Amino acid sequence: MKIASNKLSDLYEFYKTELGSIYDTNELYAIFELVCEHYLGYSKTDTRLKFQENLNQSDVLKIYDTAKALKTGMPIQYIFGEADFYNLKFKVNNSTLIPRPETEELVDLIIKSQTTDNIAPTTILDIGTGSGCIPIALKKNIPNSKVTGIDISKEALEVAKSNTVKNNVVVEFIKLDILSAFDSSLITHHLSLIVSNPPYVLNSEAKLMDARVLEHEPHLALFVKETDPIIFYKRIIDLCTKHLEEKGYLFFELNPMYANDVKKYANDSKIFNFTEIVKDMSGKERFLKAQKK
Ligand SMILES: C[S@@+](CC[C@H](N)C(=O)[O-])C[C@H]1O[C@@H](n2cnc3c(N)ncnc32)[C@H](O)[C@@H]1O
Repeated sequence: MKIASNKLSDLYEFYKTELGSIYDTNELYAIFELVCEHYLGYSKTDTRLKFQENLNQSDVLKIYDTAKALKTGMPIQYIFGEADFYNLKFKVNNSTLIPRPETEELVDLIIKSQTTDNIAPTTILDIGTGSGCIPIALKKNIPNSKVTGIDISKEALEVAKSNTVKNNVVVEFIKLDILSAFDSSLITHHLSLIVSNPPYVLNSEAKLMDARVLEHEPHLALFVKETDPIIFYKRIIDLCTKHLEEKGYLFFELNPMYANDVKKYANDSKIFNFTEIVKDMSGKERFLKAQKK
């Protein structure tokens, strides 16, 4: 289909024709607003007020190409190569998960714990760091801390490193398979806070997932083996014995289906003063917070 003119209104008509069968009207308009913000720097108000204005050919092309990419099911963050997280911008690509709102809640829980629990973490480790969104957002908000991120994926770590530059922070990254028998000296034994949002989706849950996630986001970041759905949590809790200092904190993002299993494993380890499941904004048992004895 051709676009009738270079007017924003005609580009929107084009979006409706190309994408109307994939998104409902409200979603489609919200996407169009994001596209105008990204390529034209328009606020939502600008987009409405400038609806009848002409754009230059290069902007028309970018907006046109974006519609074509959206039609393939590619998430908009991968098209832009950028995602918002905790008021920061992060580079993302198909080696990194697109940071989720729940993970922003996890970061917020940690940051607020400085006041609610008097936590003053000086050394923080994020396990399964992906784009580096968790450690970078923590470093921005807890600037005196020394923050490290671990991931098995070299490609994800490259993105995470570029995100430290993008956000002007220093975070160290280590390439490590957390499930392997690694040299324990690679991680400091004096961590005051360990955080992780590990892979936690079961293959059996895949059929309930959006095709855009399944086809475009890295399966290494999403899925865990059905035979041991809490394997990452168990491994990280075991690591706390040696690497988390006394009174140190552990924070997890959880699959709500296994929240109680993770809590039980943590309690059975007998290394924690307390373990607490925290619900997310939609009321799901999404986070675990624990303090070491
Ligand atoms: C759910 S994603 C979380 C990414 C990021 N922290 C976020 O919240 O957006 C899980 C991450 O764990 C990493 N991962 C998977 N298996 C791993 C392993 N055995 N050791 C270390 N990292 C692993 C994946 O590459 C992925 O980046």
